[in-house]
Amino acid sequence: MTAHSVSGARMMALGTALPDKVLTNHDLAKMVDTTHEWILERTGIHERRIGGTTAGLAAEAGRVAIERSDIDPATIDLLILATTSPDRRVPATASTVQEMLGLSCGAMDLNAACSGFVYGLIAAHGFINLGHHRVLVIGAETLSRMTDWTDRGTCILFADGAGAAVIEKTEGPGDLHGWHVDSNGALESALYCDFDAKIEMSGQAIFKNAVLAMEHAARQSLEMAEMSAADIDIVIPHQANVRIVEASCKRLGIPYEKTSMVIHRTGNTSSASVPLALEDAWSRGRVKKGDRLLLVGFGAGMTSAAAVITWDGK
Ligand code: COA
Repeated sequence: MTAHSVSGARMMALGTALPDKVLTNHDLAKMVDTTHEWILERTGIHERRIGGTTAGLAAEAGRVAIERSDIDPATIDLLILATTSPDRRVPATASTVQEMLGLSCGAMDLNAACSGFVYGLIAAHGFINLGHHRVLVIGAETLSRMTDWTDRGTCILFADGAGAAVIEKTEGPGDLHGWHVDSNGALESALYCDFDAKIEMSGQAIFKNAVLAMEHAARQSLEMAEMSAADIDIVIPHQANVRIVEASCKRLGIPYEKTSMVIHRTGNTSSASVPLALEDAWSRGRVKKGDRLLLVGFGAGMTSAAAVITWDGK
């Protein structure tokens, strides 16, 4: 089956960055009333990385993606930085990253919480369809700065990291077959962080709605792509909780073995988690040219986003 394309653009190459400092579950057990076993069983997380700045991690990931793309950075027309943890209120952290990478292009932050990278990817396709040649999309977070390290209900989950992708215009059909973005503002109070405050979360409400949001976004994007779940070779889900991904896959009829999971070593890095999981699959040779990928994110808002793409990158 030749899949129809909804955009004349493709993903070229990926890059990632993680802070050096490792925080294990055992470290957390010394800080709050929890255990390694509890965290592992309820979330799938062994350890996470924390430290650095959002701009620093974003620039590191972006630099790797540009190098692997083997392109002249001057040909990048736009930098989209998906983040929910910008370094400053103003300017957009994307402008700082632009300067660090020496780019001459438009730059903006995009906050769609943990769905941010998938939103950014879809936005990049939109800009390219309007005439841009290349767009650098980065998801980067330093959630450790927004985490209450005395709250065992949240501090076991969140962490820092970055992932990036270069998207470029193609002569023929592009790699995007279906997409979906969504938000349900009625669930805002389930996960939020006020200015100069720490993350507040109602874990069970998020869990239940995340499973439904992930399934809905995936189904909508598959429908646009005129594909079924069986056509998907690998799922790249937001890394929030192994049990959320397991439950969503079950509802979609996709074997869990088809997912790429890095949460055991990264924790929940919000908008960085999808590119981190995608790059991990690619680096292990799990993603081959022509494979069909389902990228799906969900997060505070509650936002959700999904994209069905064919891998045509390096
Ligand atoms: N260590 C040990 N016990 C803990 C704990 C911890 N870190 N956190 C909570 N508990 C306790 C609770 O106090 C509760 O105790 P009780 O039964 O005596 O009242 C018990 O464990 C069960 O708590 P519950 O909240 O029902 O656990 P859970 O199975 O729902 O797991 C989360 C908690 C946070 C791991 C889970 O709800 C979750 O992952 N939710 C989604 C969060 C998420 O993904 N957010 C980001 C979205 S992008």
